[in-house]
Amino acid sequence: KKVVLAYSGGLDTSIILRWLEDTYGCEVVTFTADLGQGEELEPARAKAQAMGVKEIYIEDLREEFVRDYVFPMFRANTIYEGEYLLGTSIARPLIAKRLIEIANETGADAISHGATGKGNDQVRFELGAYALKPGVKVIAPWREWDLLSREKLMTYAEEHNIPVDFKKAGKKSPYSMDANLLHISYEGGILEDPWAEPEEDMWRWSVSPENAPNEPTYIELTYEKGDIVAIDGESLKAHEVLAKLNKLGGDNGIGRLDIVENRYVGMKSRGAYETPGGTIMMRAHRAIESITLDREVAHLKDSVMPKYAELIYNGYWWSPERQMLQTMIDESQSVVNGVVRVKLYKGNVTVVGRKSDDSLFDEKIATFEDDAGAYDQKDAEGFIKLNALRLRIAAQKGR
Ligand code: ARG
Ligand code: SIN
Repeated sequence: KKVVLAYSGGLDTSIILRWLEDTYGCEVVTFTADLGQGEELEPARAKAQAMGVKEIYIEDLREEFVRDYVFPMFRANTIYEGEYLLGTSIARPLIAKRLIEIANETGADAISHGATGKGNDQVRFELGAYALKPGVKVIAPWREWDLLSREKLMTYAEEHNIPVDFKKAGKKSPYSMDANLLHISYEGGILEDPWAEPEEDMWRWSVSPENAPNEPTYIELTYEKGDIVAIDGESLKAHEVLAKLNKLGGDNGIGRLDIVENRYVGMKSRGAYETPGGTIMMRAHRAIESITLDREVAHLKDSVMPKYAELIYNGYWWSPERQMLQTMIDESQSVVNGVVRVKLYKGNVTVVGRKSDDSLFDEKIATFEDDAGAYDQKDAEGFIKLNALRLRIAAQKGR
């Protein structure tokens, strides 16, 4: 009877809106979020109103998104398949949560989204929704309708008087894109040929490294409990940190990525991503951990990271195993405090300094000069011999 729709205000989700009403005879509540995608939200309100929607939710979720989703993920140095910083993956659990909360507030029994039946996003929205409201009904129009070509969609829009200006709202990009404060992604179009290099004008957030300034940019990032709290000494909220790093990174050609990844549904998919701020954060976080974390804590954390990345990629943010790993990761971050100095130059992020009151780095012990007895080199002999014992026994047996 009532369904909450994740509504962008674009043509596709406007068609979904009308299709839901026509097909299910239900009332539609729209939900549009600002996650830092860089688009005005008010047009979405006007469009929803023009379509006759009575309950319209428009929300600025930028701070919550970065503080409660992006930052916790970066505490783990999370990377999927060695490359992808999970910019789209990490936004879906928050959207799923708000869809369900709005369903509860408005007495809706169903949610709907515009993800296709071939991708990861449907899985992420729906696993989240079921985890938070087990009895919810999910409607995924792309899996149900037969409007599978651009032409059919246009005809449907005309026949169902979806206001025309929804169509000419900018010429449609040849790519399937998704943007938020962490990244912008491109899929489809010429990218469907993994051999084809993207044209330079596809990229929207960064200059190419070739066109980046000839002078490096230095910045200092202050960490508290594994999160950046200030840039060059200026205190910033989570989403302000990421916005600023995106600008600095983009200006220096940082964070472009072109990969083929494995989708959860089984297919390989080619994607291009710009993650300027995230690329800087990844480097800098490892640098602050390098002086503050115990070796075994750091290595154990690293060993579970691929699993944690897979959980986020596959849509299991709202799962007990993800929450268990998060507790472990967060526990490790109590000592991850200090400052990292980073140089940005033509696509590169280079760490050039790190310091911390919680540093475990001991110059007296590490020095190549006289350490005045801080470390007894004779101890190393027995250490090595005992570690070699099983190797020597095996070698004596001719193995
Ligand atoms: N392949 C990436 C992921 O699965 C990006 C998905 C982009 N989604 C979109 N609706 N355009 O996280
Ligand atoms: C989609 O299929 O809706 C976008 C791509 C993805 O979810 O992986």
